Amino acid sequence: MGIVFAVISGKGGVGKTTSTANLGIGIAQEGKKVVVVDFDLGQRNLDMILGLENRVIYDMVHVMDEEAGLKQALIKSKHSDGLYFLAASQTKDKTALEKEKVKKLVDALREDFEYIILDAPAGIESGFEHTIMYADAAVVVVNPEVSSIRDADKAIGIVDAKCERVKEDKNVQKYLIINRINPTMVQSGEMLESNDILDILSIDLVGKIPEDQGVVEASNTGRPVILDEKSPSGAAYKRISQRLCGIEVPFSDIENDKQMTLMEKIKSLFQ
Ligand SMILES: Nc1ncnc2c1ncn2[C@@H]1O[C@H](COP(=O)(O)OP(=O)(O)OP(=O)(O)O)[C@@H](O)[C@H]1O
Ligand SMILES: [Mg+2]
Repeated sequence: MGIVFAVISGKGGVGKTTSTANLGIGIAQEGKKVVVVDFDLGQRNLDMILGLENRVIYDMVHVMDEEAGLKQALIKSKHSDGLYFLAASQTKDKTALEKEKVKKLVDALREDFEYIILDAPAGIESGFEHTIMYADAAVVVVNPEVSSIRDADKAIGIVDAKCERVKEDKNVQKYLIINRINPTMVQSGEMLESNDILDILSIDLVGKIPEDQGVVEASNTGRPVILDEKSPSGAAYKRISQRLCGIEVPFSDIENDKQMTLMEKIKSLFQ
């Protein structure tokens, strides 16, 4: 039986879909059988980030409405053996999901996969609730901004109120990713520090990702940044993937990473 992770944030645009794609690849690289599912109905993006937009024929609503079988709708990733993708419907909106049908789909995925990663829509409305309802754990993505932290706190509250696991008196583990950290701004006091964020949210940190234009470029080309071995944000996603697989990996101090000046970069080329 697989474990179901819902990737949530409350606030939109903080990096849920980016994280889902990178963690899907990273966990598959650890030898696990993984499926990533786009629950953002009407606004699907995960297909593009994985470079699979031309391969989508059937989506999860087709499967839920029994217009297609699960095997027909699952798309194998070209980036990693063991990674599969299930698309969101582009035409139906977030209210199109029904609780019983979501449960049936998630249960079917649990049978076939070790890791099931659900990419939640922004907000805390019905689409979000359907994503978290049958999850075993939540990956909470925040940016180091007050509005993001406040919305994440609300989203965590809903997880604790509405997850089926909680109703069964079981815990829903939460893992925090702090995304888009700018070390220079943290050092100059213009950006919230991770410790402050952890104090407010009181959930376990699973990793930090730096602000990185490479993430955007990688997403635009359909090759998530984790595939770039030289990328610090790719390496950060790799460490998070390993932690989610139960491997102990030391935390690296992204906030105190010195930004290399141009002169330092030039000098380092001659060392
Ligand atoms: N570490 C990063 N550095 C720079 N840009 C990033 C980083 N992480 C994500 N982004 C960019 O931020 C934008 C939003 O990311 P993404 O789509 O993953 O967020 P989301 O939470 O899924 O958004 P939505 O709530 O709309 O679904 C994208 O353009 C993405 O490339
Ligand atoms: Mg998204």
